[in-house]
Amino acid sequence: MLTPELNCSFLGMNLTNPLVLASGILGTSPSLMERMALSGAAAITSKSCGPEARAGHPNPVTVAWDCGVLNAIGLTNPGARAEVPLLRETKQRLAALGVPLFASIFAPRLEDYGEVARIIAEAEPDLIEVNISCPNVASEFGTPFSASAESAAAVTRTVRKAVNLPISIKLAPNVPEISLIAQAVVEEGADAITAINTMPAMLIDATAAKPVLSNRTGGLSGPALKPIALRCVYEIAQAVSVPIIGTGGLSSGIDAAEMLMAGATLVGIGSVVINDGPSVFSRICTELATFMKDNGYAQLGDVRGKALT
Ligand SMILES: Cc1cc2nc3c(=O)[nH]c(=O)nc-3n(C[C@H](O)[C@H](O)[C@H](O)COP(=O)(O)O)c2cc1C
Repeated sequence: MLTPELNCSFLGMNLTNPLVLASGILGTSPSLMERMALSGAAAITSKSCGPEARAGHPNPVTVAWDCGVLNAIGLTNPGARAEVPLLRETKQRLAALGVPLFASIFAPRLEDYGEVARIIAEAEPDLIEVNISCPNVASEFGTPFSASAESAAAVTRTVRKAVNLPISIKLAPNVPEISLIAQAVVEEGADAITAINTMPAMLIDATAAKPVLSNRTGGLSGPALKPIALRCVYEIAQAVSVPIIGTGGLSSGIDAAEMLMAGATLVGIGSVVINDGPSVFSRICTELATFMKDNGYAQLGDVRGKALT
């Protein structure tokens, strides 16, 4: 068999492979985003940006653990107005490489989502990813909008009215029926779904007899998240027909294949970049192509949804 094709189409965009840098992993530095694209990321998601500058939580905010990462960065960002020039430069650098930019936004209040989306749209990203699922700011913002179909739909409606760009709504794993939330956001005009954000979790330092993170709880990512992410994407794929950016705990080509088989169109790559650096993108692509060749898959479309009943 010839070398399998990794190129794919996503909402009319042509990508050289299905790998997307997940939001927040490396901030929004234009040169760093460009470096990820040069290393093989076929699309780049920027760090979530909100209406105002935020310092985030005090240290410690990230801890590497045996089976992944626990973080409670607290949505550190410069605020939407200051983010626009950064995103413009990032977009320019990525466009030269044929790599789309997905700009992530969040807001503490429903009514702020539209305004943040409008401001960020000035940078002309290829898609706006709407983060309604950060688990680390509940003490300030209250229950995340991802917690119910009604609140997730309300945010989607607000952003949909505000911008003409494609939007992807980023969902949380810790809900009773993620498929109902997926259906609700698609009914309100979501073009895609990103699943999943981190899982609320805690590590305790036994000697100090207290939680490790200053925020006490954080979001779990990395290998421990993979089975949860696969289950969520599998359920979403059965409920809606929009493309899914399947994210959570993926660190190999076989992991990526599993996520595609669960129904994802693109595959988000996050914590593994923190641990292994930008070379993960080309490694995962090589491993995915090898897996496909060994198992008789000529293109990604043959793998996608293969595990769905
Ligand atoms: C340090 C860190 C910061 C993150 N920041 C954001 C963020 O700003 N916005 C967002 O939507 N997700 C954020 N995430 C979640 C990731 O985008 C991703 O959904 C999650 O980590 C699962 O993927 P992974 O297991 O491959 O890391 C962050 C994750 C980590 C580890």
